[in-house]
Amino acid sequence: MTCKARIIVLDDEPNIVEVIITRLESSGYCANGFTKPETALDALRKDEYHVLITDMKMPDMDGMEVLQRAKQIDPDIEVIIFTAYGSIDGAVMAMKKGAHDYLVKPFEPIELVAKIDSAIDKRELKQRVRYLEQEVSDRIEHHIYAESSAMKKVLSLVRQVSKSDANVLILGESGTGKELVAKMLHYESNRKDRKFVIMDCGATQATLIEAELFGYTKGAYTGAVKDKRGIIEEADTGTLFLDEIGNISSEMQTRLLRVLESGDFRRIGDLDQRHVDIRVIAATNSDLKARVDEGNFREDLYYRLKVITINLPSLRERKEDIVGLSQIFLTEFSNKTGKKVAGISKDAMDMLLSYHWPGNVRELKNSIESAVVMSSSELIVPEDLKPSGVFDNDKSTVDSGLNTLEAQEKAMVLKALNKARWVQKDAADILGITRRVMHYKIRKYNINIDKNPM
Ligand SMILES: Nc1ncnc2c1ncn2[C@@H]1O[C@H](COP(=O)(O)OP(=O)(O)OP(=O)(O)O)[C@@H](O)[C@H]1O
Ligand SMILES: [Mg+2]
Repeated sequence: MTCKARIIVLDDEPNIVEVIITRLESSGYCANGFTKPETALDALRKDEYHVLITDMKMPDMDGMEVLQRAKQIDPDIEVIIFTAYGSIDGAVMAMKKGAHDYLVKPFEPIELVAKIDSAIDKRELKQRVRYLEQEVSDRIEHHIYAESSAMKKVLSLVRQVSKSDANVLILGESGTGKELVAKMLHYESNRKDRKFVIMDCGATQATLIEAELFGYTKGAYTGAVKDKRGIIEEADTGTLFLDEIGNISSEMQTRLLRVLESGDFRRIGDLDQRHVDIRVIAATNSDLKARVDEGNFREDLYYRLKVITINLPSLRERKEDIVGLSQIFLTEFSNKTGKKVAGISKDAMDMLLSYHWPGNVRELKNSIESAVVMSSSELIVPEDLKPSGVFDNDKSTVDSGLNTLEAQEKAMVLKALNKARWVQKDAADILGITRRVMHYKIRKYNINIDKNPM
């Protein structure tokens, strides 16, 4: 049954509850009646409601407390309190504490319906404002920069598939922008006014993932002290982003497959089947196909997830993006820190361009952040980049005249000498070479031992 809104009606007088419910249902609302505050609050924990109407004077708990506890359970719930003539003060106080409105008994049903409608409007407005605020910040923060043809191709694929409801699998190394792409898919889709919910399957303990995703009923296991809606329900009519999908257990794979196939699922410990309408975007930096071949990931789930696959190239495969990305991050961090760093020197940019970026865009972003902190002029210079630590073992920090293998050997010798506090014999031991070979390497690479401390 579709209804205009879901409403809880609470009064210790069963007759009053009955009358109100009948009236609300005939006006197109779904209404559930309760005579005990605790059971009404339980219902609110269990399902989503839009408005709660409560009597002020009840033997177990007064309307004021119901109001406060309901707001704790669901800050979005709108509460209307009805009160007997003569106790309006309390009702006014309740409004100060966040009630939407009050009614004085006896009231006309039409009055009640009007107040409910305005409560629903207010709730929708509040949610809309919150959503827009989030969206604005998401759009600003999550703008995807693409200069390289590889990334431009990715963006055009994202635009092409965002309007469809097809599930998408995003593959790419760590830090390549998988989450950013997932967000863009959502914000360019027809579901953009609905929620984008992230489930991080990598960071969450395997046993908790199930509870997080599916939710549970009170008593389903030790620790389940109340009913809880899962992430799947939260994402209903919106987009569910399953990050690090490669990490989920085989049991979870089976349960997830079922939701993907039919939209049906049960909360843990619940007999009722529920239904959701979600679009799933999954991401992983592991080789999912290989996991399928090894028998560690269900093939049917794999195909369900990868209706469309988006491969994010690593940063070293799209070096054309480095200059622009660096400038974006530079502006971002100089604004954030209030330091006026406007550009990157040629030498420093050469360093950025020749590095192999195992951590991809995230690593570049972190390096720029650290460089902005270190910089003492308007220009980022190589010295500002070094403390970030990422260039330590890289050829870009050693003589460019040497070939890669030699450069690496020199770097290793230097590292060993540093570690051994420039005692050559100890450095030789670290590398597993003789003192004589060590001496030879030092001469070969023109390492100035005298200048360095003992
Ligand atoms: N093309 C891009 N334009 C602007 N910023 C980007 C771009 N790609 C990535 N970033 C930024 O780099 C950081 C890492 O991106 P994101 O979190 O989306 O990567 P990821 O692939 O999900 O990483 P992980 O696998 O580690 O979870 C974020 O701060 C993101 O805003
Ligand atoms: Mg990520």
